Amino acid sequence: MTHASSPSARPLRVTRAQAPLSGSIRVPGDKSISHRALMFASLARGETHITGLLEGEDVLRTAAAMRALGAQVAQHAPGDWRVSGLGIGKLREPEDVLDMGNSGTAARLLSGILASHGMVSVMTGDASLRRRPMKRVMDPLAGTGATFMAREGGRLPMAIHGLADPRPLDYRLPVASAQVKSAVLLAGLNAQGQTRVEEPVATRDHTENMLRHFGAHVKVEETPQGGRVILLQGRPDLVARDVVVPGDPSSAAFPIVAALLVPGADITISTVGLNPLRTGLFITLQEMGAQLEVTNIRTEGGELVGDLHVRASSLKGVTVPADRAPSMIDEYPILAVAAAHASGVSRFCGVEELRVKESDRLAATVALLENNGVKTAVEGDDLVVYGTSNAIPGGGVVQTHMDHRLAMSASVLGLVAQNPVEIDDTAFIDTSFPGYLQLMNSLGAGFAL
Ligand code: S3P
Repeated sequence: MTHASSPSARPLRVTRAQAPLSGSIRVPGDKSISHRALMFASLARGETHITGLLEGEDVLRTAAAMRALGAQVAQHAPGDWRVSGLGIGKLREPEDVLDMGNSGTAARLLSGILASHGMVSVMTGDASLRRRPMKRVMDPLAGTGATFMAREGGRLPMAIHGLADPRPLDYRLPVASAQVKSAVLLAGLNAQGQTRVEEPVATRDHTENMLRHFGAHVKVEETPQGGRVILLQGRPDLVARDVVVPGDPSSAAFPIVAALLVPGADITISTVGLNPLRTGLFITLQEMGAQLEVTNIRTEGGELVGDLHVRASSLKGVTVPADRAPSMIDEYPILAVAAAHASGVSRFCGVEELRVKESDRLAATVALLENNGVKTAVEGDDLVVYGTSNAIPGGGVVQTHMDHRLAMSASVLGLVAQNPVEIDDTAFIDTSFPGYLQLMNSLGAGFAL
């Protein structure tokens, strides 16, 4: 039985926006940085104070897991959390199965921690996460000496027999994945000597930045081919440090595209993370002709942030190069909605990683558009979208497959389609963007809640 047919599903019928979107908002904290803040603070000595933490389901799973491993993790006020860590190698064996819910980031990063502690642990997740490949972390982490047992194809549930004295890894990533890179680096924290990871294309570097922030020695070298080598000195003394979490650019993507597409819209989103390894969507939208201005650029908590001013724009099709994919990997479903509304043809090159996200996002994005009258094609690993010049027919039923970003993308499509769009389930939006529908309504989206 799929979640969509369960009593907890929250279907939504979206009709065309009746008025321009307008106003000023903030989006919730960055998901990637929030997971890392909780994990690294749990491995540091002393009390870390985190402000702006994303309180979505995914991050709350990480908070619960770190608690189950012995760290003290408590909310003091909304977004304001205190974590008392135990120090590297000092986490305790969990008494029960660790349930990571819908979150691939939580599961993959945590496996690096679990493999490098002398303990036995078992990890599981929801139906979506149990379908996703864990072999990509099991393979490198086995080099530490830890042992793994998982279901067919490296699927959760998975048991890990970790080691108190793991071997340091030297690993070249076969796929561009910040999660795999981070799992290897996290295992390297408790290994004596140097851990080395090479990535063929640079991926988000929040792990490297935050490890440095907590006092680890991390060296990054650029390779002539555009990749990176990351060197981590093992057994650093991680010390508690305050963390300020910026607004998530991957969440900002939804109100941004909505404002670009709804006629007459004019909105501002303040304090959005602008780490250059996360801003591929913004560059792409500007190439399409978006009136998207970034102002007040500053550094907060070690990350670049800025305010975004977005006005309704006439968009044209775009070709997105494959090497830009890591900097916008979560943004393709919503970019596909923008491309469907634009004039001309768009091609997103080299998007094969979409097949292993919370859903098969390549297939689900194609279905989202096709079921609403937009022509698409998958050619090898490229997605092609035929723009409708502001005339998305709509009228379709969207299956979200337990995928938050599919649900939010469908909601934006519904705001500009000619006929109402039915979304089977919006409940999973809470994994990354709690309060999304209400926040959009504060701009005038008019979602019928
Ligand atoms: C993330 C990395 C990306 C991204 C995910 C968050 C992270 O996954 O899709 O939402 O926080 O490291 P991959 O590493 O699988 O590309």
